[in-house]
Amino acid sequence: MRKQIAAANWKMNLTIQQGEQLLNDIIAKPHHLSAHQQAVFAVPFPYLAMAQAKMAGKDNVFIAAQNCYTKKSGAYTGETSVEMLQSLGIQVVVLGHSERREYFNESNQMLADKVNIVLEYNCTPIFCCGEALAIREAGTQNEYVAIQLEESLFHLSAEQIQKVVIAYEPIWAIGTGKTASSEQAQEMHAHLRAVLAGKYGASVADNISILYGGSVKASNAKEIFSQPDVDGGLVGGASLIADEFVAIINSLK
Ligand code: G3P
Repeated sequence: MRKQIAAANWKMNLTIQQGEQLLNDIIAKPHHLSAHQQAVFAVPFPYLAMAQAKMAGKDNVFIAAQNCYTKKSGAYTGETSVEMLQSLGIQVVVLGHSERREYFNESNQMLADKVNIVLEYNCTPIFCCGEALAIREAGTQNEYVAIQLEESLFHLSAEQIQKVVIAYEPIWAIGTGKTASSEQAQEMHAHLRAVLAGKYGASVADNISILYGGSVKASNAKEIFSQPDVDGGLVGGASLIADEFVAIINSLK
């Protein structure tokens, strides 16, 4: 069974006090992660050390950064390198979130560079892809998302691509409460896995975890995660509420 992952994306939310309390509340609530299941918390850069210390020693729990720069080090004021993240013990980096593509002009090529440096440091990229509403309404989402993978990931070897976690996040479902139906999620995930299989073969593609993101809640997680090609979720708003996110963790198959 490939990895099933409940990943929290706090985005730019919470004070460090609120974040620490949220983690305390989550830790205190009953949840179980079996060998193939993981919980990931993508917290703002300033909270990484706190979160890493808080979750230290907890099996199958990982703290992630929400971004990194393309360079190893140097005169890049305000940026954070993977080397810095690794020195904190961080092993997972979310890349290419639609908000970074939109507000910070992150291109598929820039993201290929970021994937490369994350893998170079033996860390795990959670690579985000997904289409805007206009693309979905035009019915060209499959081609659009396939190009995101091709331009940012398909330079990787078969060994490297299996280290990548993919997160499909239809932009029109992010923060809108308008969740993709489980059928829509399964359809796109199956398409992504077929595109991966076309490049790398079915056995490699079957090894790659593909998460769904876009208004995942405790109320819909079980159904969405039950889909054969959905391997968990990347969760925004609901991850800021302990009861919600623990229920989402407990919805993993
Ligand atoms: O990265 C996850 C995020 O984009 C989804 O946000 O609030 O719709 O769960 P939300």
